[in-house]
Amino acid sequence: MEIRTATMADLETIAAVEAACFPATEAATREEFAERLKYYAEHFWLMFDEDKLIAFVDGIVTDEKDLADEMYEKAAMHNPEGAWQMIFGVNTLPAYRKHGYAGELINAAIADAKLQGRKGLVLTCKEKLLHYYAKFGFVNEGISASTHGNVVWYQMRLTF
Ligand SMILES: CC(C)(COP(=O)(O)OP(=O)(O)OC[C@H]1O[C@@H](n2cnc3c(N)ncnc32)[C@H](O)[C@@H]1OP(=O)(O)O)[C@@H](O)C(=O)NCCC(=O)NCCS
Repeated sequence: MEIRTATMADLETIAAVEAACFPATEAATREEFAERLKYYAEHFWLMFDEDKLIAFVDGIVTDEKDLADEMYEKAAMHNPEGAWQMIFGVNTLPAYRKHGYAGELINAAIADAKLQGRKGLVLTCKEKLLHYYAKFGFVNEGISASTHGNVVWYQMRLTF
């Protein structure tokens, strides 16, 4: 498996993996990914099985301490000098799950954020995944203000 950051050429496959991993009410659209890739392609971590995209993680960098819903749509909020690496989506195609692939991508994002001198990483997740992210050092900060997809999201933070 190869891990690398993204370019605009990855747009279609990224949107297809997202659609396979999230319900339509929660999935980012192709247009949203086009904006994200314009501003922060280097904050996408992609995993390939040969030339097939099987999993990815992405998110902006910002000085805002908390992950806000508007960040999903407003890619221009990305601040390359920001303190916090946000993690928006963690996706693995169903057929490739439970092999540690998402974990490898999360570790790659953590390593890069450390190298880049960030304060840490912030994500939101559903209750059932709290234990999963805790394994990487993320700490639960309680229910977030997010109303994304009309479900309850918890905010978690890993501080270096
Ligand atoms: C959540 C998601 C990204 C996990 O992807 P993944 O590649 O399967 O993740 P991992 O393999 O790193 O870990 C998943 C589980 O498999 C386990 N696992 C890892 N390697 C394994 C192996 N070789 N054999 C058996 N289990 C293994 C992990 O320990 C973990 O178990 P846990 O949930 O009990 O902690 C994936 O299920 C997904 O895309 N879901 C839909 C989208 C979503 O909800 N994303 C999260 C938004 S917050």
